[in-house]
Amino acid sequence: MLIKPDGVVRSKVGAIISRIEDKGLKIVALRMIKLDSERAERHYAIHKGKPFYDSLLKYITSAPIVAIVVEGNNCIEIVRKLVGATNGAKAEPGTIRGDYSTGIDFNLIHASDSEESANYEIPIFFEEKEIMSYERADKDWL
Ligand code: CMP
Repeated sequence: MLIKPDGVVRSKVGAIISRIEDKGLKIVALRMIKLDSERAERHYAIHKGKPFYDSLLKYITSAPIVAIVVEGNNCIEIVRKLVGATNGAKAEPGTIRGDYSTGIDFNLIHASDSEESANYEIPIFFEEKEIMSYERADKDWL
């Protein structure tokens, strides 16, 4: 997942990471970077040609982002529920977008929508050796 530029410049990084940890997901990689257009285009290749593509690239390269890899049972489904609907105006209160976003252009987070897209997206941000292996102390309770 990515905490996008609005999440960083609005100082929501800690709040967002807390929600992931509190839910019981395990953070196994984390990095703050400023995306260049090459990496941004690679990440959002699936949206090339869509009406919002150019503004999306401008937004995602406008300030640093935080790239995060999480692990856990059903983590893709769980993260997407935590994040909420793409449009913050429609996202349920209690979700990250529902609590912090009012629209679709600035929606704070990107979350992989499938294992396939996670497998495409993670190597854009991390080498395999940067994905950490450890056990949460509360793992038997999650
Ligand atoms: P994200 O989950 O990062 O995936 C693509 C992003 O494009 C999306 O979140 C929004 O930030 C942005 N976007 C802007 N307009 C649209 C739209 N009409 N449909 C989907 N995504 C959009």
